[in-house]
Amino acid sequence: MTKILEVNNLQISFDTYAGKVRAIRGVDFELNKGETLAIVGESGSGKSVTTRTIMRLLSSNANIDQGEIVFKGDNLVNKTEKEMQKIRGREIAMIFQDPMTSLDPTMPIGKQVAESLRKHKKVSKKEGLKAALDLLNLVGIPDAEKRLKSYPHQFSGGQRQRIVIAIALICNPEILIADEPTTALDVTIQAQILELLKEIQTKIETSIIFITHDLGVVANVADRVAVMYAGKIIEVGTAEEIFYNPQHPYTWGLLGSMPTLESESDRLYAIPGSPPDLLDPPKGDAFYPRNEFALKIDAEQEPPFFELSATHKAATWLLAPQAPAVTPPAEIQRRWDIFAKKQKQHSA
Ligand SMILES: Nc1ncnc2c1ncn2[C@@H]1O[C@H](COP(=O)(O)OP(=O)(O)OP(=O)(O)O)[C@@H](O)[C@H]1O
Ligand SMILES: [Mg+2]
Repeated sequence: MTKILEVNNLQISFDTYAGKVRAIRGVDFELNKGETLAIVGESGSGKSVTTRTIMRLLSSNANIDQGEIVFKGDNLVNKTEKEMQKIRGREIAMIFQDPMTSLDPTMPIGKQVAESLRKHKKVSKKEGLKAALDLLNLVGIPDAEKRLKSYPHQFSGGQRQRIVIAIALICNPEILIADEPTTALDVTIQAQILELLKEIQTKIETSIIFITHDLGVVANVADRVAVMYAGKIIEVGTAEEIFYNPQHPYTWGLLGSMPTLESESDRLYAIPGSPPDLLDPPKGDAFYPRNEFALKIDAEQEPPFFELSATHKAATWLLAPQAPAVTPPAEIQRRWDIFAKKQKQHSA
């Protein structure tokens, strides 16, 4: 497996009138060639800030306090804006949370997709349009040739999302970052888009970072999953390890809050409480006040990562040799059973 991106000890803060917001508090992860990594976590956990840092698209009150982002042997943290402009869109492309705002309403879509290529590569207008057509076909726009001259408002929401993907992919980027909306309503579209990306990935070898707050969306398509909480990754593993052998009580909570869709009256479990204030991060385990399995040490000391396999690690004191053995709550186990059943149906 070739490593294409490596993030080491990333720490990001924002200067605000209320003080310094410690948004990212030491994040490490890697991305391999051709794989799909999902980053999951509640709102505010730092998913967007992490990926915006990779693109170096942070707001002006942001500080990169520590860390490096190694892309093909180069540290992106040290790049100038001019150097980043060559990487952005061409080598690392991003699909933003709202696809509507990424399209120009006044420009036909064929031209828009071609423009994204012509910005980075010397191609004629004709070559650009030909490439745009190929890509619009690839992302599944029906009658693409006839519709090159149509405007964004003439397409459905789902089709517009596909056009945005075509724009992101036309330069053949090595990494595609997809930052999905957090509204529960979009879960089916998220799943469709992820399936489309997966399909495309078999044709062009792009690595994908897919961001969502919903673990259910990534179940069938992510190779690995990183779970974020309060500016840190607290568990990472293969999709299988995260779904069938999760170790962090926060991951249990996320799994437990996945809608089962078993019956309409099915109550959605929610993790009690809310995330800590990042203006003044806690000194122990940030999840401590919401953790029904918390140990005394959680209030005092941050847990290190405990390794469960070469690919799976979790930062919870429950994995320390001195910790008592605990079983996840029954509600969560029930969801696992439902989920396992669905997985079987899906793969059958
Ligand atoms: N420009 C900013 N100024 C101050 N704080 C910020 C700024 N941008 C982000 N933050 C803070 O950084 C933290 C992480 O935000 P981020 O947008 O990465 O969360 P997220 O995981 O993407 O959430 P969501 O699922 O809602 O998109 C939050 O506490 C947020 O308030
Ligand atoms: Mg976000």
